[in-house]
Amino acid sequence: MPRIFSGIQPSGELHIGNLLGAVQNWVNLQQEYDCLYAIVDLHALTGVHEARGDLHQRTRDMAIGLLASGIDPEHATLFVQSHVTEHSELMWLLNAVTPVGELERMTQYKDKAAGLESIPAGLLNYPILMSADILLYRADLVPVGEDQVQHLELARGIARRWNAEYSPTEPFFPEPQPLLTKAKRIRGLDGESKMSKSKGNTIGILDSPEVIWQRLRPSVTDPARVTRKDPGTPEICGLYELHQHFSPPDTVKEVAEKCRTAGWGCLDCKRVLADNMAETLAPIRTKAQELTAAPERVDDLLAKGAAKARAQARATIDRAHELIGLMPPHPAATSTET
Ligand code: TYM
Repeated sequence: MPRIFSGIQPSGELHIGNLLGAVQNWVNLQQEYDCLYAIVDLHALTGVHEARGDLHQRTRDMAIGLLASGIDPEHATLFVQSHVTEHSELMWLLNAVTPVGELERMTQYKDKAAGLESIPAGLLNYPILMSADILLYRADLVPVGEDQVQHLELARGIARRWNAEYSPTEPFFPEPQPLLTKAKRIRGLDGESKMSKSKGNTIGILDSPEVIWQRLRPSVTDPARVTRKDPGTPEICGLYELHQHFSPPDTVKEVAEKCRTAGWGCLDCKRVLADNMAETLAPIRTKAQELTAAPERVDDLLAKGAAKARAQARATIDRAHELIGLMPPHPAATSTET
């Protein structure tokens, strides 16, 4: 059975871009495949403002968001990256075969490093840790949004180079392929950039109906619709895109027609979207409220997930050490007794 791995940063909020671009796919795949999903807290350390303070709480909140969205620990292994220390261990082994030039070409690195006076090495090496996440479980498929595709290309290159160096006759690491949804790049409410927590242009999956409306109301639509009477082009509007994910097909058709004929103003269109979005997200909010009231249950699920992931991760590291030809430790060296 093909193996699936994916990860998400504990950025404090699971937004509808994450949900539509990746997490819905995670949920759909978990019945049929062997799936591992990680909350990648070590990746969050490379964020300029994200590392400090409430990372612990944000990690648990992300777990709650994922479980409420339908990740089922009976079917998928859900865990916290830092609980399985083999992620950092494999990263070092992969560091040894990764050209710096390729890291410097990563678009996300260039965007994030631009304007920084001092660039942390972690920002450059971020995609090596991401490759380690995937290769540690020798995963074949990685459900992600479009912004991660370049990182996966790099992961394939790293796997290829590692195999050529250490396991040329029988490649040890599979070359992981991305799995994209139709919503591979959800636009933010500013109508321009990708929806992203750092841009402040998101709608959270746990936002109340009132907050959804407050966020949607001032959002940017087709610039041709200056006044209510100006007709627009639905296909270029980010809100029409969202209707396609949250409104029934008949409504989507009506939205397109009312936009083209100026039958509705943008505010009417937003009102319908806000209602449909709130309705779709209501069961997720309810489930999240239940889980928030039982944090020990969430922590217990994460602990079980980490134990399961660790067993597989250890086997990969041990085999990688063997293939590299590192000296195996004497059994006494692995004992914790003094
Ligand atoms: P992160 O935490 O930024 O996002 C999690 C997932 O959500 C997708 N996504 C989107 N999809 C569509 N439209 C959007 N506006 C949008 N915003 C986010 C992302 O593509 C991602 O799939 N580096 C990764 C986390 C990671 C990872 C991994 C992913 C670490 N190790 C190994 C896969 C495999 C990240 O920062 O995603």
